[in-house]
Amino acid sequence: MNCLTPKAVRESISEYSELALPNDANGLGNVLGGKVMHLVDLAAALAALRHARRAVVTASVDHMNFLHPVKIGQLILLRSSVNRVFRSSMEIGVKVWVEDLQTGAVRHTSSAYLTFVALDATGQTVPIPPVIPETEDEKRRYEEAAQRRDYGWKCGEKASSG
Ligand SMILES: CC(C)(COP(=O)(O)OP(=O)(O)OC[C@H]1O[C@@H](n2cnc3c(N)ncnc32)[C@H](O)[C@@H]1OP(=O)(O)O)[C@@H](O)C(=O)NCCC(=O)NCCS
Repeated sequence: MNCLTPKAVRESISEYSELALPNDANGLGNVLGGKVMHLVDLAAALAALRHARRAVVTASVDHMNFLHPVKIGQLILLRSSVNRVFRSSMEIGVKVWVEDLQTGAVRHTSSAYLTFVALDATGQTVPIPPVIPETEDEKRRYEEAAQRRDYGWKCGEKASSG
């Protein structure tokens, strides 16, 4: 298969989970925001690697929110997918939930958008396969990713629409 053969979003959707342990706590007994950011970066890297099937680096974290605190003992659940590919870069969306393991209640706690860039063996940026959105949500995220990139470009960042 040609390495630039387009791939469906579903081919690289990734899931990751981790139990929140006391070592991850802030002074309030909730999980540190930085810990959640670390997990978001890992989950995003999984989708980026599965799509590109080559080395990728985090170029930017374009957006991240924290809607609710995560408590120690809860399970942190992450789901990542490729929203759009440009040339060597791609926007990855990550959604985070927490599950209360005693009640089974699941709550959306964070969302994030990250940009990953693919590199060759010499560290040069390389083109990656286009992504094909299939579901209505994937198509919406695909369009919104281009708008976010255009907005970043207008605000003086390096990225421009592809
Ligand atoms: C990301 C990196 C590879 C870009 O290198 P570069 O020489 O500036 O690359 P270019 O200018 O040719 O841009 C390559 C692509 O990256 C994108 N890009 C570069 N900087 C970006 C940024 N800050 N945010 C989003 N996209 C970015 C460009 O838009 C371009 O996308 P395209 O090919 O899809 O059109 C380089 O800055 C780097 O290695 N950064 C460190 C990454 C890292 O170590 N991450 C972990 C942090 S601990």
